[in-house]
Amino acid sequence: MSEPTILVTGGTGTTGSRVAAGLEAAGTTVRIASRNPQGDKHIRFDWQDPETYGPALAGVDSIYLLPPVGTTDPAPIVAP
Ligand SMILES: NC(=O)c1ccc[n+]([C@@H]2O[C@H](COP(=O)([O-])OP(=O)(O)OC[C@H]3O[C@@H](n4cnc5c(N)ncnc54)[C@H](OP(=O)(O)O)[C@@H]3O)[C@@H](O)[C@H]2O)c1
Repeated sequence: MSEPTILVTGGTGTTGSRVAAGLEAAGTTVRIASRNPQGDKHIRFDWQDPETYGPALAGVDSIYLLPPVGTTDPAPIVAP
């Protein structure tokens, strides 16, 4: 069985980048979500742009989910 692919939202940030590094060290394939993707491991993802959700999730087994930073009620954005 191949290793799972995990989408790390906030993966370019202070906390998410550490999560991504830890997952990679454990042998997991990581896809890093970013509004400004750079390099093969990144994919464009913006909570404010639902058109980016599908491509970011395609082929992903699970997600490390960082809700939109600074949002008091993220559910309406994150749930869909
Ligand atoms: N840092 C700490 O020590 C610490 C401690 C306790 C709790 N926290 C909490 O943990 C959370 C993350 O903190 P952090 O310090 O890791 O944040 P950060 O370094 O500011 O990183 C924010 C991340 O969110 C992404 N992001 C911002 N707007 C986005 C949007 N519209 N759509 C998709 N992604 C977006 C950024 O990606 P791009 O810019 O690449 O798009 C970046 O990866 C926050 O809620 C913070 O309060 C942090």
